[in-house]
Amino acid sequence: MPDDDMTDVQLESRLREQEYFSPPPEFVGQANATDRDIYDEVGEFPEGFDRYAELLDWDERWDRTFDGSNPPFFEWFVGGKLNASHNCIDRHLDERKNQTAICWEGSDGTQENITYRDLYRRVNETAAALRARGVEEDDVVTIHLPMVPALPITMLACARLGAPHSVVFAGFSAQALAERTDSADSDYIVTIDGYYRRGAFLSHIEKTDEALDLADREPDVLTWLRHDEPQADISDDYIRMGDLLDEHAGERVDPVSRDAEDPLFLMYTSGTTGKPKGCQHRTGGYLAYVAATSKHVLDIKPGDTYWCAADIGWITGHSYIVYGPLALGTTSVMYEDTPDHPHKGRIWEIAEKYDVDIFHTSPTAVRMFMKWGEEYPERYDFDFRHMTTVGEPIQPEAWLWYYKHIGGEDAVIVDTWWQTETGGHLLTNLPALDDMKPGSAGRAAPGIEPALLDDSGENVPEAAGQAGNLVIERPWPSMLQTVYGDDERFIDTYWADYSDTDSDDWRDWTYKAGDGAVQSQDGYWRVLGRLDDVMNVAGHRLGTMELESAAAEVEQVAEAAVAPREDAQKGEVPDVYAVVREGVEESDAVRAEIVSAVEAEIGKFARPANVVFVDDLPKTRSGKIMRRILENISNGEDLGNTTTLRDPSVPEQIREQTVGE
Ligand code: WT7
Repeated sequence: MPDDDMTDVQLESRLREQEYFSPPPEFVGQANATDRDIYDEVGEFPEGFDRYAELLDWDERWDRTFDGSNPPFFEWFVGGKLNASHNCIDRHLDERKNQTAICWEGSDGTQENITYRDLYRRVNETAAALRARGVEEDDVVTIHLPMVPALPITMLACARLGAPHSVVFAGFSAQALAERTDSADSDYIVTIDGYYRRGAFLSHIEKTDEALDLADREPDVLTWLRHDEPQADISDDYIRMGDLLDEHAGERVDPVSRDAEDPLFLMYTSGTTGKPKGCQHRTGGYLAYVAATSKHVLDIKPGDTYWCAADIGWITGHSYIVYGPLALGTTSVMYEDTPDHPHKGRIWEIAEKYDVDIFHTSPTAVRMFMKWGEEYPERYDFDFRHMTTVGEPIQPEAWLWYYKHIGGEDAVIVDTWWQTETGGHLLTNLPALDDMKPGSAGRAAPGIEPALLDDSGENVPEAAGQAGNLVIERPWPSMLQTVYGDDERFIDTYWADYSDTDSDDWRDWTYKAGDGAVQSQDGYWRVLGRLDDVMNVAGHRLGTMELESAAAEVEQVAEAAVAPREDAQKGEVPDVYAVVREGVEESDAVRAEIVSAVEAEIGKFARPANVVFVDDLPKTRSGKIMRRILENISNGEDLGNTTTLRDPSVPEQIREQTVGE
């Protein structure tokens, strides 16, 4: 807990109050949520959430909204049955079969408009193909695909069969893929020969080749192709999706009716140990909550063109590219390549080309656009009515730039705080109902009960501008069900700190978010960042322990610790502090090995910013590494309290070594 961090002058200046911006009347006039009563109605616990579930088609209606009898294993819409693929596709066919569901822009500007009818056909054929290869209800299918149509199609085909998917972000390494395949007990990997990065073909399938060598399991591999002909070597053992689809052309698969509580997917995320956690999400509560927040927070209407420029390989893409928007029957844009390819105006060019109404991105991207300059967006004729940020705190300067230069001062902005675990937005304004305040997520979403606790579990006074641990005091429908295969870890990570774990009463259970936050006097929440050993690098969540164990794999390294360094562009970047073994020279070669070990174990996106060699790491008497002190060194701050260290002189030595670098 960074107590010293949270009370000092630096925090004060970060919390400088900002002025408010009202939503433009044209926005308010057309918004989905315009009545403040929604807070009271949805807040009627638990039946208030029935309104969310009623946005969906159910095969059988639920008997009970909520069952809290076995905390923290809460159940939602108990007795209800539904299928997510039916809700995202079939039910829209009567009204909008010829409307584009997914509008895909390839790296080279190729466009694919997949209508709801096309999506229906392709998802059915894919489901038939998967089933023919043995995929059955409850089999976990690992999907390692980039931003190509095959990704949402495979996800929805799995959902149709009732087979939970586990999408592994394409940027993850072979090792990370192997680890997640094993951890999820998955017998299938779905991949592709390659895709485009900055205009160049990037071979991807080799990560699967390697993962098969590394994994304990022996999953079947099904592969899509980026073009008609393979662009990389494909093992004869792999099944080509194209061939399978030909065999199953025109086939239909009845959507498997799933219990509301049956899992829809797993999403692995970094935690405070070296092992990523498989957050398990349920079908009914998840889909109901993401559909409702897509409607009320993102203001999505079926006729809109909506673009969330995230990657589907992270939770943002699951909830707010695929499931939420498609459940509402809108048009969701997907783009394959990076924002600067082939020029820094690409994003705005696409926004103009498809006449995007609602745009969704991360503060990291906004800071990058800001650095590139307003001349890029100025060249294009686009007009957003609504914009979202997600993933990290947004600095007021970046917010103001986004508002002015991208929103043209007449689009609303919602800053949405949530997590892989929460499934959907928890802190955010409903855009027509409250003014925006740069840098603040705003109020709690309807039905959500956040609070702040100090380290001993006492309540921090409400709306007092004081920092504390952000917790959620009441369950909500899209919360994770458990950590796949590890209920104990689920309880330890999210509940043990602030709950009476002996109690059967759900009211005694409090969800710990792992973030620090403040609530200012106007009731608006501002999330400050992680309090545990989890970093946020360009909106990607990384556990310091995962980075450390990768660095420690290098033979010459005796010990390594990782600390986040603040970075103007990426928010945070990892610094590695390494102690080499006796007799090893502290060289650039060892540095390079550490960097490549991280790339191999996790992925290139996790690359350390600096590798610093030190003689010793700051440790407590019991041998625990005090990363907080390394973080202070990385960020040029005061060392803070060093009296609990076994050797209090270590930090100064490190500082000297660092400065001497
Ligand atoms: C962590 C969750 C939620 C989808 C993307 C990230 C940070 C997220 C905000 C925000 C301040 C934010 C938190 C959170 N975070 N949104 N609007 N303001 N911080 O999902 O990878 O699970 O990361 O991202 O620290 O705990 P994730």
